[in-house]
Amino acid sequence: MRPSTLDPRPMNDSPVRLDLHIDPDAPRRELEQLRHGLLQEPPRVSSRYFYDAHGSELFERITELEVYYQTRTERRLLQRHAGSIVERTGASQLIELGSGAATKTRVLLDAMRDQGSLHRYVPLDVSESMVRRTAEELVAEYPGLEVHGIVGNFLEHLGELPTDGRSLAVFLGGTIGNLRPEDEAVEFLTALGSELGAGGWLLLGTDLIKDAETLHRAYNDPQGVTAAFNLNLLTVLNRRFGADFDLSQWSHRAVWSSEAQRIEMHLVASRPLEVFVAALDLRIRFAEGDHLLTEISTKFDRPKVDRLLESSCFEIDQWYTDERDLFGLALARCVAR
Ligand code: SAH
Ligand code: AVI
Repeated sequence: MRPSTLDPRPMNDSPVRLDLHIDPDAPRRELEQLRHGLLQEPPRVSSRYFYDAHGSELFERITELEVYYQTRTERRLLQRHAGSIVERTGASQLIELGSGAATKTRVLLDAMRDQGSLHRYVPLDVSESMVRRTAEELVAEYPGLEVHGIVGNFLEHLGELPTDGRSLAVFLGGTIGNLRPEDEAVEFLTALGSELGAGGWLLLGTDLIKDAETLHRAYNDPQGVTAAFNLNLLTVLNRRFGADFDLSQWSHRAVWSSEAQRIEMHLVASRPLEVFVAALDLRIRFAEGDHLLTEISTKFDRPKVDRLLESSCFEIDQWYTDERDLFGLALARCVAR
């Protein structure tokens, strides 16, 4: 039974409001996007489909892996700079896109509470289980905090964000690198800029370009958690779109493309395979060794982040990085151009 405070309706006496924008029956637009991706060469699937409840748990396990340096490095950066970020932005409302388990977010919420400005937290994530869990945990941990959770797609539902009050939007973990740089990343930042308006603040986490070996290890962990995370996407496609992928016939591969400066995650067919996707009435044939592209994870340096932000209204106000230049946090502001 769902707790009543997490009913998807605004409730006057509850600190939690939850808005659901993901239709359990995939709408036509989503089906068209899936078909379009599957008919590309190589076929590709949006990485949002990693994140059902199980996939979100697997991602949490990835963040704890020794080889996956991103999360702990970004957490240390936040611990070092949260106080000055909150002071500089004067934020009373924290909006988080792709919030997941919001573990690092606590560092920012603590700083807001300590400075007496903490009022509302707005997590937006495609994973309903994560938004619910985060909302429950945070209202218990931060007395007086309002949580307005949004279960939605950050490429489609930014218009649903409440932007009253002094907002700081955060997009952590390097998730911007999972968006196609040529269209999705720019469209996302442009839409976010128009929601926040001139003067709006964004804290953007980016994984930085480094040696190929460190990057390769981070996406090919010896425990096989990343492989399980990658394969789980096929379970999600089977369930959501009535596909008949046989998981035992596919294997995980993650490769560094020095040309595109990104990790590419693939699922590789171990023999000739035919897959039927009932929701699309589509049959796809794979030869042995053919692959599906399941994720890109683009890596950045400071000039590249500058250029990306300048393609929308944002410009960097502060740039924080660690001693080894593993990860970068850009505190950026939307300027009227
Ligand atoms: N911010 C967290 C989680 C990063 S994992 C961290 O830094 O650790 C990426 C998160 O983005 C997941 O929680 C996933 O569910 C969410 N996500 C991925 N694609 C999404 C989309 N298109 N719309 C909304 N959320 C998405
Ligand atoms: C969420 N995102 C930034 C992760 C990344 O590193 O690109 C997802 C991930 N894929 C494999 N491991 C982690």
